Amino acid sequence: MNALETHYLGLTLTSPLAASSSPLTDSVEGICRLEDHGLSAVVLPSLFEEQLELESLGLHADLERGRHGFAEAASFLPELTSYNLGPDRYLDLIRSARERVNIPVIASLNGTTPGGWLDYARLIEQAGASALELNLYAIETDPQRSGAEIEAQQRELLAILRDAVTIPLSVKLSPFYSSIANLARGLDDVGADGLVLFNRFYQPDFDIVERAVVNSLTLSHSAELLPRLHWTAILSGRMRADLAITGGVHAADDVVKSIMAGARVAFMASALLQHGPSHARHVLAELALWLDAHEYASVAEMCGCMNYGAVPNPTAFERGNYMKVLGSYGARRDTPV
Ligand SMILES: Cc1cc2nc3c(=O)[nH]c(=O)nc-3n(C[C@H](O)[C@H](O)[C@H](O)COP(=O)(O)O)c2cc1C
Repeated sequence: MNALETHYLGLTLTSPLAASSSPLTDSVEGICRLEDHGLSAVVLPSLFEEQLELESLGLHADLERGRHGFAEAASFLPELTSYNLGPDRYLDLIRSARERVNIPVIASLNGTTPGGWLDYARLIEQAGASALELNLYAIETDPQRSGAEIEAQQRELLAILRDAVTIPLSVKLSPFYSSIANLARGLDDVGADGLVLFNRFYQPDFDIVERAVVNSLTLSHSAELLPRLHWTAILSGRMRADLAITGGVHAADDVVKSIMAGARVAFMASALLQHGPSHARHVLAELALWLDAHEYASVAEMCGCMNYGAVPNPTAFERGNYMKVLGSYGARRDTPV
């Protein structure tokens, strides 16, 4: 058996290093390049609820003409019908990618409210997607809505998808819930085959001279891995769903940490965009060397060896650690005067 092999969503992957949604996965050529450089699976860019609802209403022509009161939407939702390929070309991408590559091709839907757009999941399944990732990227601004209400709606979304398709389903989560563990358990109960921790949130910045809200997308760095490791370690071994990490995976050490925390897969986007898909080759070579040097026969043997149940002192993952961490700073005497 290949020492790097892992199992995720019932799929066998040649290694735990896979490509998450990004512009690198929006064409067949891009996906072939990722496979050539050793990525073990790809997640396609997301199709958004807003795009699919418009498509189903047949409103896009009117939208372009500014009718139906959608002028505002037209200004902030960029080229809704063609964003990330648009719904029709998306299905073509799934079909052609499945013909051309051997690695799993995971489609992605991004939305928050139950509705007709979820029917699209069936088309994704029929087009041949190996699995479907539901991205629950939400910014809840309504003070009237409770966390419980929002979380119940997210479970409902997943339950609808679970009924609609038979392919494996994963959920890409936000780190912002009052109880991540409880939400994860709820999604697991409803039939999530995988949980992907965590979405990166792109907070807008302020231009203080122009008094404008400025959107910017910066790529990640390895430090962003830490909250993902923390929560993967806490959830690992406590659910049926496979865990995966996205956010801050840049080097082989990041992959090792992700697996030790309990992830089956470490997804990469920023590092591939920064250094090119060939970066994956270096990471995989270093991962193989690391396993060898530390006498692990396989990735599977290492999976979860530092999760909540496995570490000698699980309080390192809990509240008590807060005091220790703060105290450890006081022990240093290097603050400039
Ligand atoms: C340019 C760009 C486009 C992205 N598009 C999507 C997307 O369509 N759907 C999605 O779920 N995530 C998307 N992501 C998020 C990535 O898949 C990934 O979860 C995130 O960047 C964290 O991983 P990283 O630290 O390896 O970059 C995008 C990221 C980037 C940088």
